[in-house]
Amino acid sequence: MEKKKKIIITIDGWSSCGKSTLARQMARELNYVYIDSGAMYRAITLYFLRNHVDWTKPAAVKKALKNIVLEFVPNTKTGQSEMWLNGENVEYVIRDLVIAEKVSEVASVRAVREFAVRQQQAMGKGKGIVMDGRDIGTVVFPKAELKIFMTADNKVRVERRFKELFEKNPNITLDEVKHNLEMRDYIDSHREISPLRKARNAIELDNSHLTMRQQLEIAMKWAREQMK
Ligand code: DC
Repeated sequence: MEKKKKIIITIDGWSSCGKSTLARQMARELNYVYIDSGAMYRAITLYFLRNHVDWTKPAAVKKALKNIVLEFVPNTKTGQSEMWLNGENVEYVIRDLVIAEKVSEVASVRAVREFAVRQQQAMGKGKGIVMDGRDIGTVVFPKAELKIFMTADNKVRVERRFKELFEKNPNITLDEVKHNLEMRDYIDSHREISPLRKARNAIELDNSHLTMRQQLEIAMKWAREQMK
């Protein structure tokens, strides 16, 4: 275990470029908490879909958010933290394409972002955290000590996400996955509130041709610099 200054590490970037893999690797290496901020937007989307909440109506969103409790609970077998929505483990169901199709719309609603960001900022109070998402280095933790902005070739990203989703649903097509990634990238980077942007002081990491080991080594070097 590292006995150094505790820092906040933010990892932002496009959909499916391996942010959560790197964030998990770093959190394990540093004995930090890993927070998947996208899981929160996905769980809120699941709640809205199940309860027929019209997210274009501010009053309906406000009322619905009052009934949503989000928690990250460690899985006792894998040790990884999982997303729970109102006492139910939704980690698996929120990865479905049905959620991916709507999550960017839901995540562009102001009240939804305020609800999620408030909780994310509270989780970073004691530092020692790695959080991945789209606005973590720009909005959630603008003063984070290490900000990483991840990219990867489009083709590589589509193939990675396809492999992941195909394991759960063999009927899925490469085209569906490609379309979903393009749509989410567009909405995430063009929305009015906290669009996906590389923070001014973020370091770019293109992992198209890196192994998981290599990307971890590069990012850990940057982290150690900041922990001195
Ligand atoms: O990281 P992910 O693919 O699980 O995120 C799902 C969606 O949530 C993504 O398309 C945009 C949104 N999101 C966001 O707007 N802000 C974040 N910090 C994280 C995710």
